[in-house]
This record gives sequence, C-alpha cells and structure tokens, in this order.
Amino acid sequence: MTASDAEAVAEAVRVLRAGGLVAIPTETVYGLGADANNAAAVARIFRAKGRPADHPLIVHLADASEMDAWAQTISPLARELAAQLWPGPLTLVLRKQPHIDDGLTGGQPTIGLRVPAHPLALAVLRDLGGGIAAPSANRFGRVSPTSAQHVRDDLGDAVDYVLDGGACAIGLESTIVDLSRGDDDAVVLRPGGVGPETLARIAGLPIPLRESSEVRVPGQHASHYAPRARLVAIDPDELAATLAGLQGETVGSIVAGDDAGAPRWTREGRGWRVVLGPGGGELAHHLYAVLRELDARGCTVIVATIPTPTPSDADLGPAIADRLRRAATPGDRGA
Ligand code: TXA
Ligand code: MG
Repeated sequence: MTASDAEAVAEAVRVLRAGGLVAIPTETVYGLGADANNAAAVARIFRAKGRPADHPLIVHLADASEMDAWAQTISPLARELAAQLWPGPLTLVLRKQPHIDDGLTGGQPTIGLRVPAHPLALAVLRDLGGGIAAPSANRFGRVSPTSAQHVRDDLGDAVDYVLDGGACAIGLESTIVDLSRGDDDAVVLRPGGVGPETLARIAGLPIPLRESSEVRVPGQHASHYAPRARLVAIDPDELAATLAGLQGETVGSIVAGDDAGAPRWTREGRGWRVVLGPGGGELAHHLYAVLRELDARGCTVIVATIPTPTPSDADLGPAIADRLRRAATPGDRGA
C-alpha cells in the first residue's frame, strides 16, 4: 500500500468512527458504508440512497472468523463456502444473532455477510475493527457504481468521503446464497461473481436459484440495474435486424470484439457503437460504466449483445444475463 493509500484508509476509518458515510471500493461494485454498530449512521445510508427502510443491508467483515459475532447456527456449507471463497464476491444470508439491530436487517431474522476482496476495503475493515454495512453506492434503483467518479456523480454531498480504489475488478454485484434455513434448503437469491459451477463443486450438488422471495430483496426487483435509456438485450446474430428496426432513435450498441482492453467507441449514425473485449469478464468489468456513459451521451435505446461465455469466465455468464434481463425490463425503475 502506498503512503497516500494509507492516509486515505486512515481518513475513511476516521469518518466511519465519527458516524459518517464512506464509499468503499470492493472487487464487485462500490459500497456506501457506515459503521454497522452505529444505528444512526446506518439510518443515514437509507436516506442517502433513497432506499426503503425495510430493505436489508450486507455487513462487510475483515475475516470469516468474525461471522459468529453476527450470525448464529452457521451451517457446515456456510463455513465451507466462506473458507473457500472469502475474500470474494459471495454474500451469505444466515440467521442473525439476537442482538443485531433491525435497522441493518430490515426487521428480518437473517443477516447478509461478506468479506470483500479489495486491499483498501480490507485495510479499512481491519483498522475499524468491526463490520461495515454497505449497499451499492448508487441511488435506489440505478446502476451500481464501479468507479469513485460514479459514486460522486450519483451521491454528491450525501457521501462524506469517497475512498478511491480504482475501477472494480469484477464490475457486477456479489452472488447471494441464502443458508438461513440450513444446507438442504440453500438457495441463490442473486447470481454474481461466483457462478453455479463453483457453488456446486463446493456444495456437492447444484444450489437452485430462487427467483422470487417473500423476503424483500431490492436487487430482485425486475426493473433494477436500469440505465435511463431503454435497454434491449439480444443474441449477437440479431444485431443487424434489431438496429434496422430502431430508425429515428439514438442507439448505443454494445458488442463483443476480439481484443481485450478498454472499450472502443465509434459513432454509428447519430448514436454510438461500443466494442468490448471478448467473453463475459470484459463485459462485466465495463458494463455499468458503459451504460452510464451511453446515458450521458444521450442515447434513447441501448442494444446489448449477450456475449458467449468463454471457459475462463463461466462464473460470470449467469450474472451478466441476469443484469441485462433486469435492465431490459420496462416499468418502475425505482427512485
Ligand atoms: O457486491 C455486492 O454485494 C455489493 C458490494 C458493495 O458488497 N453490495 C450490494 O448491496 O450489492 P445491495 O444492498 O445493493 O444489494 C444487496 C442485496 C440486496 O438485494 C439485499 O436485499 C440483499 O442483498 N440482502 C441483504 N441482506 C439480506 C437478507 N438478510 N436476506 C435477503 N437478502 C438480503
Ligand atoms: Mg444495489
């Protein structure tokens, strides 16, 4: 860690101890963090985001050994997933300890826990010596931020300090696995950076995806993760026909190319064509930034071609398809 990183971490810890809100970089997306033991600070998260109070937060921890302070009756599979995949893009939903504040859990008997894989986030967590409650650092219902600038654009003065840890390595939110009813009833609530094959390998059998839940899970609202422009998600071979049907619109098209690296932007009609690297990893890494930029450049429609997953990014295929499907769902897009 450089001297300026160390100073930034120290400032983040100072602000958190004083009850402030700090944007924290993680390997998935930026989180809007508060000291999870400070109820007033946690309440400020909901106001800053415009998020309904009954939506539970994820508590971020420095190490799996801290799970027991927050959760009880932790199942063998939960321990094994934590041991193998933390730090990493996995959130475990477990039965909460009785003393845990309802403000963190939306009044539910469960709590979401995760150890993020980002050196600055881990340094802040270790120095703070406690949990950080953090949803994604965007206004409710908008695209999650994958850079410090995205956080500033979305939240402005509502966040007291932005800890800049660069662009998020993965770029999509964590996989959420609910183990609160025990190992036999494990379910995936949200696909993310840990894919179904990885989970099945550790669990010994596939963990089913539960699309809807009696529990309120904001990320499960069909219209989440939406840009302002209408989004159409298609297979690559449908691109020409889809573009031909969108005469008169300002179209941004997102397609996969062969070269890794930064997205390549070219004008196409009155709109834009963005070429990303091959496979899902490159798409996930750049997707939210590109959606924001296409909005900013005035596109009315975004056409995203769903990439063919390569073996190296098989983990991310279901998460990309999930987010594109949700972003493409019309209707109420949240505040
Ligand atoms: O990658 C991520 O998970 C990021 C980074 C910052 O860690 N966080 C994130 O938080 O995406 P958020 O709040 O935007 O989405 C977390 C999801 C929400 O849909 C929330 O309802 C769900 O996790 N969740 C949290 N606690 C839960 C619980 N006890 N039961 C069910 N769902 C829960
Ligand atoms: Mg979110």
